[in-house]
Amino acid sequence: MAQAKFQAAIFDLDGVLADTARFHYLAWKDLADKLGFAFTPQDGERIKGVARMEALEVVLRTGHMQHRFSAEEKERMAREKNALYVSHITRIDQSALLPGTLTLLPELRRRGVKVALGSASKNARIILEATGILPLFDAIADGTRASKAKPDPEVFLLAASDLMLDPGDCAVFEDAYSGIEAAHNGGMYAVGVGSAKHLPNADMIVKDLSRFHPEDLF
Ligand code: BG6
Ligand code: MG
Repeated sequence: MAQAKFQAAIFDLDGVLADTARFHYLAWKDLADKLGFAFTPQDGERIKGVARMEALEVVLRTGHMQHRFSAEEKERMAREKNALYVSHITRIDQSALLPGTLTLLPELRRRGVKVALGSASKNARIILEATGILPLFDAIADGTRASKAKPDPEVFLLAASDLMLDPGDCAVFEDAYSGIEAAHNGGMYAVGVGSAKHLPNADMIVKDLSRFHPEDLF
């Protein structure tokens, strides 16, 4: 039998496993609407993978308002955005999973590949529980454990260390430019999930997880 190339798959959550990136976008757009400026889906690309307070800065910069608010006001805006976001994700179920999630994760586990989460989100567990996929993970590294935002590799390195594997043994699946950078900064292979246009830095691109063939990398 051929030697497996990678021993673990580390998945980003929003936009890779679950169709939740749009709820982040809608909740930030609601803030932009209230502040009176446009926040387009194209602008929304720049908050993908970015931790909450950094995402707020991206949104405010879009409206040229990054210097207008105090730290307390920014905390309040982030809290309100999160409350709206959480109200969306507590209503989701398995139907919010993206194509391929429910087939690929069990298939990898059958092959003896470790499966981990590497998400910037502090709300990751809510989504894993609501969609029923929590039991499919050997390790969970999320925004409640990592203090440095992607493109820092911290969250992926935490996942690899939980699995007791070297970064070079892990392949990361990401839909965000900053997430692909984070994987590379941690010395990991990066599969881009989405379009080559948004992810020119990925080592390999698949449209969604249903198009990925485990035998190519594992
Ligand atoms: C990432 C999303 O997964 O999580 C970002 O791609 C989001 O858009 C980040 O800002 C942080 O999420 P949360 O749930 O902790 O605000
Ligand atoms: Mg993502």
